[in-house]
Amino acid sequence: MQARGPLMIEHRLIERMLSVIKDVLTEIKSKNKVNPVFVDIAVDFIRVYADRTHHGKEEDILFRELTNKSLSTKDRQAMNELIEDHVLGRQTTKALVDANSRYRNGDEAALTDIAEKLQTLVEFYPKHIEKEDKVFFPASRAYFTDEEDQAMLAEFWEFDRKVIHEKYKSVVQDLEA
Ligand SMILES: [Fe+2]
Ligand SMILES: [Fe+2]
Repeated sequence: MQARGPLMIEHRLIERMLSVIKDVLTEIKSKNKVNPVFVDIAVDFIRVYADRTHHGKEEDILFRELTNKSLSTKDRQAMNELIEDHVLGRQTTKALVDANSRYRNGDEAALTDIAEKLQTLVEFYPKHIEKEDKVFFPASRAYFTDEEDQAMLAEFWEFDRKVIHEKYKSVVQDLEA
């Protein structure tokens, strides 16, 4: 498997989650309410899976390795755009968490914010995935030898192995606090 393999497999699960979010958005509009627990689950998925596990491998390993290569202007711009997308994802998720806690505390107007943030995610993220799968990953593969690509893949597996421990250590720490 090439290094981009696990990243592309992860994209497929993220797309499935986005499709669930889309269905919930339709429900929010028709019923004018949302289950805050659903938002918690979506936020956990986005933060731990899409951001920490997936963007973590992209930024901490793939992009890090790419900064050691002499990228074309086009590829460098593309990488910077992807990094900005990740930042937008984090900001949107943070605003979503905030809106969800206001909603939970009885602020019904926060429902509009929840819907708006979920809408932002389902709109921008598929485009982000497409840029990576169809353009950036194939272009970036050309900068690496087979050995370098396999070394990244090995580092990806090691990264994943650590995330589960990091996640549950933080769960316990939060409960202890
Ligand atoms: Fe990405
Ligand atoms: Fe990605």
